[in-house]
Amino acid sequence: MNTQNTNENKQEFENILKDIITNDKVLKMKDYIQHYDTTLFDHCYNVSWITYKMCKFFHLNYIEATRASMLHDLFLYDWRVKSKKRSRLHAFRHPYIALKVAEKEFNLTDKEKDIILKHMWPITIIPPKSLEGFCVTLADKYSAIYESFIHYQKSLIFRYSYVLWAILFFKINI
Ligand SMILES: [Fe+2]
Ligand SMILES: [Fe+2]
Repeated sequence: MNTQNTNENKQEFENILKDIITNDKVLKMKDYIQHYDTTLFDHCYNVSWITYKMCKFFHLNYIEATRASMLHDLFLYDWRVKSKKRSRLHAFRHPYIALKVAEKEFNLTDKEKDIILKHMWPITIIPPKSLEGFCVTLADKYSAIYESFIHYQKSLIFRYSYVLWAILFFKINI
C-alpha cells in the first residue's frame, strides 16, 4: 500500500468516525486506562483502525464495523478498581454497559449493536451475527496483546537501559 493510499484511508477512516470521536462521552474514554499505558479511547481507536483495514480488505461493511468498534468499550469506569458492584463480572457486563451508553449518544444499526454486544466472544458464549463482528473480536484481541507487549517492551528497555549505556560506553572507549 503506497503513502497516498494510506493517507486517503486515514482520511476516510477519520471521516467515518467524525461525529463519534468528537462526542463528549467518547472523549471521556481518555480519562480511563484499558491496558497498562493505553487509554480506553486509544484502545478503541486502535481496534477501529485495524477493523477498518481488515473489513475493507475483505470487502465487508467497513463503515458499520469501524463505527461499532470505536464504541465497543464505551463503559466509562476504571475496571481495574475492584468494587462489589462490578467485581469479576466486568468481562461479561461491559459490552452491555457500552451498548447502553452508545445507544443514548448515537443512532446505531442492528449490526453495530450486535458487534458491540458480542465483541468479547468467545469469552461470552454467543458469537457475533456478522463477519464484521468476527473482525472486531480479532482486532480487539490483537490490540490488547499489542498494547500489553508495548508496555512490557518499554519497561524492559527502562529496566535494562544501564546495560545499553554500558555497551555504548565500552564501544566509545574501545
Ligand atoms: Fe471489551
Ligand atoms: Fe476492547
